[in-house]
Amino acid sequence: MAPVNPIRVTERAQKLATEVLRPGDIAVDGTAGKGRDTACLAQAVGPNGHVHAFDIQPEAITSTHNLLEVAGLLDRVSLHLRSHAELTEVLTSAQHGKLGVAIFNLGYLPGGDASIITQPSSTNHALRSAFDHLRPGGRLICVAYTGHPGGPEESDIVLKFAEEQAAAGLHVEKVGYYPTPGKPWILVVNKPAA
Ligand SMILES: C[S@@+](CC[C@H](N)C(=O)[O-])C[C@H]1O[C@@H](n2cnc3c(N)ncnc32)[C@H](O)[C@@H]1O
Repeated sequence: MAPVNPIRVTERAQKLATEVLRPGDIAVDGTAGKGRDTACLAQAVGPNGHVHAFDIQPEAITSTHNLLEVAGLLDRVSLHLRSHAELTEVLTSAQHGKLGVAIFNLGYLPGGDASIITQPSSTNHALRSAFDHLRPGGRLICVAYTGHPGGPEESDIVLKFAEEQAAAGLHVEKVGYYPTPGKPWILVVNKPAA
């Protein structure tokens, strides 16, 4: 697939989400940050859907809350000040296996403390949990960055997960600049339709 402009990687990831989401779906934003991806998911699932958004920084949860409030989307989003590694504990049992999309935009909060970054071990755990909880036809999307300290190691973890899924016969795509050092790329893994 053709490379995408770095400033458009997040938009591309959002498009990959919205082309799968249906009204009434449950979705997860594993890294709420400024709330842009959460708002995109919330719009796509509609008033009868629900989004769980995670971040470990109060600043990010506040930013996301404020964006959703302005957009009139707060009613369909649960904000969790906790790690995405705790995804399974947060979903209700009725939501297990029902996610339309899980999206992760790794790295650090734009404009925030660049030393607070997503970590390989929790990312690895969260990606696997999120994929397990997708519904048939659901999609996992992960934007990985290699330009900050710790980024290449985390990108390798994402890549290992991708290779395992591909070896298991799943449809896996690497969109964007993979494998260009310093550039972001997007992993897309689709759960087979029933
Ligand atoms: C690149 S930003 C996300 C951008 C966001 N999706 C948006 O639309 O603005 C990465 C975020 O991941 C958060 N983060 C780091 N470790 C985390 C973890 N274990 N669980 C959830 N969020 C985490 C950071 O606090 C940061 O806000």
